[in-house]
Amino acid sequence: MKILIVGSGAREHALAKALHRSPQQPEIYCCASSNNPGIRNLAKGYWIGDICQVEAVSKQARQWQIELAIIGPEAPLEQGLADELWAHAIPTIGPKKKLAQIETSKAFTRNLLKKYHVKGSLEYRVFQGMADVQEFLQHLGHDGYVIKADGLMGGKGVKVAGEHLHSFQEALQFCQELTDLGHSFVIEEKLVGQEFSFLCFSDGTHLVPMPLVQDHKRAFDGDKGPNTGGMGSYSFANHRLPFLSDTDIASAFHMNESIIDALTAEYREPYIGILYGSFIATKSGVQLIEFNARFGDPEALNVLAILESDFVRICQQMVTGDLSHEAVRFANLATVCKYAVPQGYPDEPQKNVEITIDAVQNREQLYLAAVNEEDGKLLATGSRAVAVVGVADNILAAEKIAEAEIQRIQGPLFHRQDIGTRELINRRIHQMQELRQRDYRLL
Ligand code: AMP
Ligand code: GLY
Repeated sequence: MKILIVGSGAREHALAKALHRSPQQPEIYCCASSNNPGIRNLAKGYWIGDICQVEAVSKQARQWQIELAIIGPEAPLEQGLADELWAHAIPTIGPKKKLAQIETSKAFTRNLLKKYHVKGSLEYRVFQGMADVQEFLQHLGHDGYVIKADGLMGGKGVKVAGEHLHSFQEALQFCQELTDLGHSFVIEEKLVGQEFSFLCFSDGTHLVPMPLVQDHKRAFDGDKGPNTGGMGSYSFANHRLPFLSDTDIASAFHMNESIIDALTAEYREPYIGILYGSFIATKSGVQLIEFNARFGDPEALNVLAILESDFVRICQQMVTGDLSHEAVRFANLATVCKYAVPQGYPDEPQKNVEITIDAVQNREQLYLAAVNEEDGKLLATGSRAVAVVGVADNILAAEKIAEAEIQRIQGPLFHRQDIGTRELINRRIHQMQELRQRDYRLL
């Protein structure tokens, strides 16, 4: 079977590894925007170009006689790559353009949730310019708002009051910058609590959950610094997170189901692909931060590292609409993923610096992202460079593995040392305990 992966980050490297492990032994092809030597080693064909040029990607896919495609990132979904591939009878994992709006437009999603009365929706307004902005900020109150550029910003178009914005004046200035750039934006209520990612496989009618993961968006230890694409993530051996109750998990799953139902009612088209709900567990229950229409990066690395069943089979079931729970089995193991990123990331990253990964011991759990190979040298090109995943019976052992491995990567890079540690996880549990005035078990 010939399978195409679109994209060339660590997430797509994880997808390539998962396909490579399949007993069906598919031939792997990749349409990439950069040269990822990790994926290239596993691929029979590797095309480099603009993956948002849907006709060019589709033409290449037909030349290779691709039988199934998996779209990694959101940008080609926004351009309608899934529509284009299906139109040429290539079954595709990744929703069509209209359905992908749940990720590509925050305003669309909030409006859809409102229309279908999906609970867990917070107070928000969409702005095209500065009219009424000040009034709405004041309504939400000092430290009570979050400002998000509408459209795809790689997780970097969000600023949170009290963390990135310290006065109404700074907030207004950010809104003015977005307006000057021609972006519309959403201002919404700021929520306090613990974030988590709930990914599901979807065939349009059946939604099969993956283990829950917590990502770390902030650049520096202690959740300080600017938002990034995600510095690392962890999952527990029981596939839950220690600060979530059964009710939290059930209501997040229910929101995932509700958005699929709303999309189906709206467009009468199956949502085939990955649904990734990003939630926050607050004092008074779970609320939605956003939906994504693809695997998370780094979350894909956590979950695919422990996927025991045949990933190809799961994809086949998704495109034929007969996805079953039995086809999806994850090992009861904990995972910790850490990313090494260039100095200066995300605002002013050093570019094309040489790095060395030779000392990493377990190549199975090494994932290449924004790197290039030139004259036998590995260069970090400016975004998240390399990820490692520690897999073990418990989270602390998994963290030790990940930390030891990432220390073996050499070059002008940095990573978060605190992800997956007892101290940081206990701090998160403690926050929930305080918020809810209820006892949770510490690590
Ligand atoms: P997003 O790009 O929407 O995932 O937002 C990036 C990050 O901003 C999230 O991971 C949160 O840490 C933070 N954030 C987004 N929306 C909210 C909100 N309503 N309340 C508090 N924090 C938020
Ligand atoms: N984990 C963040 C993202 O994939 O958007």
